[in-house]
Parts: sequence; structure tokens; C-alpha cells
Amino acid sequence: MAYLKPQRPEKVTAPSLRASKERGERLVCLTAYDYPTARVLDEAGVDVVLVGDSVGNVVLGYGNTVPVTLDDMIRHTRAVRRGVQRALLVADMPYGSYHTGADDAVRAALRLIKEGAAEAVKLEGGRARASLVKRLVDEEIPVMGHIGLMPQSVNKLGGYRVQGKTTNAARALIEDAQALEAAGAFAVVLEVVPREIAKIITETISIPTVGIGAGPDCDVQVLVTHDLVGLSFGKLARFVRQYANLREAMTDAIGRFAEDVRSGAYPSATESYSLPSETAEEMHIDTAATPSETKVENL
Ligand code: KIV
Repeated sequence: MAYLKPQRPEKVTAPSLRASKERGERLVCLTAYDYPTARVLDEAGVDVVLVGDSVGNVVLGYGNTVPVTLDDMIRHTRAVRRGVQRALLVADMPYGSYHTGADDAVRAALRLIKEGAAEAVKLEGGRARASLVKRLVDEEIPVMGHIGLMPQSVNKLGGYRVQGKTTNAARALIEDAQALEAAGAFAVVLEVVPREIAKIITETISIPTVGIGAGPDCDVQVLVTHDLVGLSFGKLARFVRQYANLREAMTDAIGRFAEDVRSGAYPSATESYSLPSETAEEMHIDTAATPSETKVENL
């Protein structure tokens, strides 16, 4: 079975991402919101595990990321933390947790670090958030920036579209990335932007770019794990490559279980326990009809 081998076995850290960029290594980032997924990603050698606020759409069933709360993020980050050893663990700051002032933002980020045990936080915004990023970094909190399509701005944007298509918008994106680098961000997500602009940004700044729908030149590629394994609903964006169809596999497994329950084929004799003979005798229960293979002591 083919799987991702970590290029290096050492623990990934915010500073080591930058060193990887300098060495020209391509790194892998995927989302996780729970312990089993986190373990699978870490064991498969994924370099950065992101507890994205995409938890809102992907597992909580909301239409977008706006309703996700800081408590939601902390709960999911704690679960993911238990499954991750090698990868860098980054947690999203949800909408509303960094919009009411720098002190509130520091408090929210510290909760993700102290209670969630994240190693870094991610927040959306370019130049408009640069001073906030600097403040967080000054408080020893590693920050990943996020520009281009910013899902927390969906109500302002009116939908999800490719960003940076006009000259002005493309220049603004480049300036946003530079401002985040100057503010001390250790990496920056570029979401759904033209590949040419992502390439310019990747070549212009010294911190790694983390691309999603941003073409092949970014230093790191990130996808939502549920999209990659076929466990999401709705139309997939053109940048998603689906490597498995777990929704189909799960529907098939669950359908076969239901069929077995309904026909009486489940549970079988070997999937059942029976009384020890002394107890059966004391209670005058006839076990003659009990198949011998069910007479087990342990689970
Ligand atoms: O919330 C998320 O999953 C993200 C990634 C798609 C970058 O922000």
C-alpha cells in the first residue's frame, strides 16, 4: 500500500517549516478534527495537521465556518492533539475570536495553545491583520496567516470565488503576504488564487506558502482530509483530488450490517457469549443447545 513517508522523521516545528522551504522541500498539510483522523495523518507522515474551522462545514453540518466557536475549536484541537506526535499542530482562530481587539485575540489564541495544546494558530486577513499578527508573535504565539479566499468573510464576499484576478487585487495579495511576513507570521495560506500570483508570492517571501487551490508552486499543499478521502457532501472544488471514496465504502458496510441484523445472520455463535456451565447448572438453564464455540471466558 502506498502512503506518504515523512521526508524527515524529526518533529515538525514552526521554525523547521522555514528551513524546509530553504531546502526546497515540498510539505504536506491536511485537516483533522478528531483523534482517529489525527493519528492516521501523523502515522502517514503528514507534516502539518490543521484543525481548521472548516470543522463547521465538514463535521458540524453548518453551511459555512461563521458559527464555529472558540470552545468548538478547543474541544476539537484537544482531540487532535492526542493523535499527533510528529506533525506541527495548527489550530484556526474562529470568526469572532480575534475581531474585538488585540487583548481578546491574545486571550483566545492562548486558550488554543494552553487548553487545546496547539503549537500555532491561524487567522484570516492580510495587511488589515498585520499589527494583530505582530502582537500575537510578540506574545510568543506562532501565527500562520491566511489570505486569498477567506471563508470567514463569506457574508461580505457574497460567496466563494477565485481571488486576486485583477491587477489591483493581485498586487494587494502580494502586499498582504509581505505584510504578514514582516509582522512575523511563520507561514501563510493562499486559498484559491491564480497560480501565477501564488508563484510570485512564494518566490518573494521567505516564509512558506501553504496553497489550497493556488497551483503547484506553493511550498506546502493543504486539502480538507474529508474531501480527499471522499467523505464530504456537495460539489467538490476543482482543486480537490479525491483519492478514496469512504462515503461509498461506509454506506456499503453499514448496508451489509443492517441486512445481517434483519436476516438474523448477526450476531453469530462466535460473536456471542454464554454462561459458564456451573452458573447455568445453578440457575437450571439448559445450555445443551448453545454452540460450544460461544463458551468463552474473555472478550
Ligand atoms: O479551515 C480550514 O480547513 C482551512 C484550510 C482549508 C486552509 O482554513
